[in-house]
Amino acid sequence: MCGIIGYIGYKNSLPILLDGLRRLEYRGYDSAGIALIENDKIEILKKAGKVSDLQDKLKNYSSQSTIGIGHTRWATHGAPNDINAHPHNNSDNSIALIHNGIIENYQTIKKKLLKDGCKFQSETDTEVLVHFISSFYKNGNDLFTATRLALSEVEGAYAILVISAKEKNKIIAARKGSPLVLGIGENEMFVASDASALISYTNKVVYLDDEEIVQLTSNNFVTKTITDEEIEKQIEKIDLEIGQIEKNNFDHFMLKEIYEQPESVKNSIRGRVLLEEGDAKLGGLQDFHDQLKKTKRIIITSCGTSWHASLVGEYIIEQMAGIPVEVEYASEFRYRSPVINSDDLIWSVSQSGETADTLASIREAKNKGAKTFGIVNVVGSSIARETSAGVYIHAGPEIGVASTKAFTSQVAVFGLIGLLLGRQRGMQIDQGRIIANEIISLPEKIKKALNCVDQVKKIVDEFKNTSNFLFLGRGTNFPTALEGALKLKEISYIHAEGYPAAEMKHGPIALIDDKMPVVFIVPKDNLYDKVMSNIQEVRARGGRIIAIANDDDDEIDNFAEFVIKVPRTLNYFGPILNIIPLQLLAYYMAIARGCNVDQPRNLAKSVTVE
Ligand code: G6P
Repeated sequence: MCGIIGYIGYKNSLPILLDGLRRLEYRGYDSAGIALIENDKIEILKKAGKVSDLQDKLKNYSSQSTIGIGHTRWATHGAPNDINAHPHNNSDNSIALIHNGIIENYQTIKKKLLKDGCKFQSETDTEVLVHFISSFYKNGNDLFTATRLALSEVEGAYAILVISAKEKNKIIAARKGSPLVLGIGENEMFVASDASALISYTNKVVYLDDEEIVQLTSNNFVTKTITDEEIEKQIEKIDLEIGQIEKNNFDHFMLKEIYEQPESVKNSIRGRVLLEEGDAKLGGLQDFHDQLKKTKRIIITSCGTSWHASLVGEYIIEQMAGIPVEVEYASEFRYRSPVINSDDLIWSVSQSGETADTLASIREAKNKGAKTFGIVNVVGSSIARETSAGVYIHAGPEIGVASTKAFTSQVAVFGLIGLLLGRQRGMQIDQGRIIANEIISLPEKIKKALNCVDQVKKIVDEFKNTSNFLFLGRGTNFPTALEGALKLKEISYIHAEGYPAAEMKHGPIALIDDKMPVVFIVPKDNLYDKVMSNIQEVRARGGRIIAIANDDDDEIDNFAEFVIKVPRTLNYFGPILNIIPLQLLAYYMAIARGCNVDQPRNLAKSVTVE
């Protein structure tokens, strides 16, 4: 979702801002813009479309500015056009502002401003905020105080940067609900939505917390709360290398991340599997073993792909540890007065650690007195900081909007958690060793599963013009079916549905005809014969069968038109291997249909609004 970058220092800010905007493209956006202080004037340059369109517009623009702010906008209020693009300015163009989030009481504020004669150019809630700040500025406050006073009356979510032509040596930044990180350089400061935009310049960062406001000058920063209390912030070092956020030799981030999975899963489990003891060791949970032993129920909250991984997690924890687990869409959980008991544990799963609904579900659970844990990829993200404990998945930066390596790492981490909880609750050591050995074998098995590109391309050739796909699986592979369908929808814009294979008879079977491709995930497990019967039912109605099966299964070749084989594993971990061909199917389908794989239309990588 919206990306924010700001620079103040001694270098020409324009190339730094444009570089930052390119790094933030992956978050999803539909227009881009920058504001610079040139001499004593604010220059605003913005454009609907991609950062490259903005760059074209700036081709002949020469700048000397050493202070500026840049924004990629994902439209909420008002269409994605040049006027609604950020930055927005006040009436005399002395203040410019960029914003990620939603100002919920903007209509009330706007009415007041209209009465005072304020004129608006755009339909955005953001423009209301800049005029509102301006109304405090006119009363003799400095930019920091004017922004702080305005924000104290604002409801909703925001990460903002504000600059003024009258105070050319500072950027004001503030956050509530949307992320912001400061980058500390030598006589220069950066501020961005996430560290990817500033990692080429510095690895020293400060994470802002909610309701904090900061004044950045080129060699200092001063932080207060919106309610005017002074606060000391810690400077942290981040362990992120520029190579991790580049495509290297791959055509797309998504493809790179699909192929990274043997390594990313290895990183997720590294040092955490105790083979001899048949157990798992998770540093982040070390101090919470008693709490875990007492837990009577786990409620997992998440969104999107993380929700699919959570469904696998439910299966794993219930089977391995016998603890009842419920999986909730974070967006539903937060508004339905969930019944939470003191022995319940809320465990939230998020790649970015910034998804607004997931964050809100944690806050809701905390308000009700529950303990909250996280399973997060991005180190230092809001969810990681707001939960009392948790496990990082260590998958490395995920840039492709369609999540791939985060899913497999999340499932692997659920395997470790299941093992730990299971061993606490009576799982025998032999069983623990079988599971631990299987977890260790996963990276090699993923490598083998990746050897299916030729078959995937044949399927793509056959079905690239189709409008619908059905994905069916059972047990842990029902979530795999959901995830396979989601991948295809997200990047190739083919309508796809995931269903439990046996549920097919209660509706989707009506869709089957000789044009309908049906992907069955049919590993050689206890439900194999049942799924084979479902395959027969689809065949009987002319449906086109694509099967994801195990490499020791010869029978399947007689029943499916296309078969992709992956290594066998324990049911718990089937999704980690079975999803690989489905990720590749979505990828090559999108390529064949000419779609923008890394920046699919309307989608955002990090959904920081409700
Ligand atoms: C967005 C992304 C998905 C992701 C979901 C949840 O919709 O496009 O790829 O699965 O958000 O994000 P999270 O960062 O919380 O896992």
